[in-house]
Amino acid sequence: MTEPALNDPMLPMPFVVVENIKNNPDCTLLAVRPVDSSHLCLYKPGQFFMLYAFGYGEVPISINSDPSLKHSLTFTIRDVGGVTAALCALEPGDPLGVRGPFGNGWPMEDLAGRDVIVMAGGLGCVPLRPVVYHLLQNRKDYGRVSLLYGSRKPEAFLFNKELQIWKRHIDVRLIVDDPAPNWDGPFGHTTDLVKNLEIDKDNTSVMICGPEIMINLSADKMLELGIPPQHVHISMERNMKCAIGQCGRCQFGPDFICKDGPVFAYDKVVERLLDIKEV
Ligand SMILES: Cc1cc2nc3c(=O)[nH]c(=O)nc-3n(C[C@H](O)[C@H](O)[C@H](O)COP(=O)(O)OP(=O)(O)OC[C@H]3O[C@@H](n4cnc5c(N)ncnc54)[C@H](O)[C@@H]3O)c2cc1C
Ligand code: FES
Repeated sequence: MTEPALNDPMLPMPFVVVENIKNNPDCTLLAVRPVDSSHLCLYKPGQFFMLYAFGYGEVPISINSDPSLKHSLTFTIRDVGGVTAALCALEPGDPLGVRGPFGNGWPMEDLAGRDVIVMAGGLGCVPLRPVVYHLLQNRKDYGRVSLLYGSRKPEAFLFNKELQIWKRHIDVRLIVDDPAPNWDGPFGHTTDLVKNLEIDKDNTSVMICGPEIMINLSADKMLELGIPPQHVHISMERNMKCAIGQCGRCQFGPDFICKDGPVFAYDKVVERLLDIKEV
């Protein structure tokens, strides 16, 4: 487990924007680096940071960098409101505040020797990108690896160039919601991609991130295929404020998503999923 980068977890650290790239019509990839160049950016795949756009506010955003890069961080941000719009508008050289990393992250240490299925819906691919990098960089430690990734439309797929590279090393399957003129792949839901997938149910772990309904359907599909719920891991989102388990904003039954999550084994949350809304 990596240690929080800051002594005071409530104090944003000064960072500066290195690159702002429009990933697709809705999303911006922001690469940032610490102003203090001796500061190392350490984190686990699946953790998140609080990004502070000065004058607007602070929001939780998942880390989506290649974990082997220690001097910068990248985030993919969808502009949905005040703070995310301000972050997406930042230009190279602009300052921002960064707190973190927070949360537990994916249980990478428990996956050694196992087959791994990574299921992503839409922006859910963001916290799973460091997982794919980790699996590729430690390829011999894992069995078969499949990435099943669904998107509303072909142009909304993230990380297109990398997907082409990843296809050479792992099983990558893509699907879009509805038929589209510029798409010759399958259409339907992420769960449809499990067809013909060879699954060793006793030796497979699954990681799922996406909209809550997609998580629910995908996890249930994996259970149907015989994978035990404790080996199905999901990443959840809720509105957040402190990110350190103090304010209660991300309360999810007895858990705080910021501290006890955002990654949970499916059996621990299945009863509450879709029922407990944002505070
Ligand atoms: C652990 C975690 C990781 C996240 N990672 C990413 C990421 O990598 N990239 C990214 O673009 N977003 C991510 N989000 C969602 C992001 O934090 C919200 O979109 C953001 O807080 C919205 O703030 P705003 O001020 O821009 O919009 P607001 O004006 O606050 O809200 C605009 C709309 O977005 C909705 N919204 C607010 N908060 C959330 C939320 N937490 N999840 C979903 N919808 C929300 C609101 O209900 C409203 O409809 C993550 C959230 C969490 C909890
Ligand atoms: S955000 Fe404050 S308790 Fe989780």
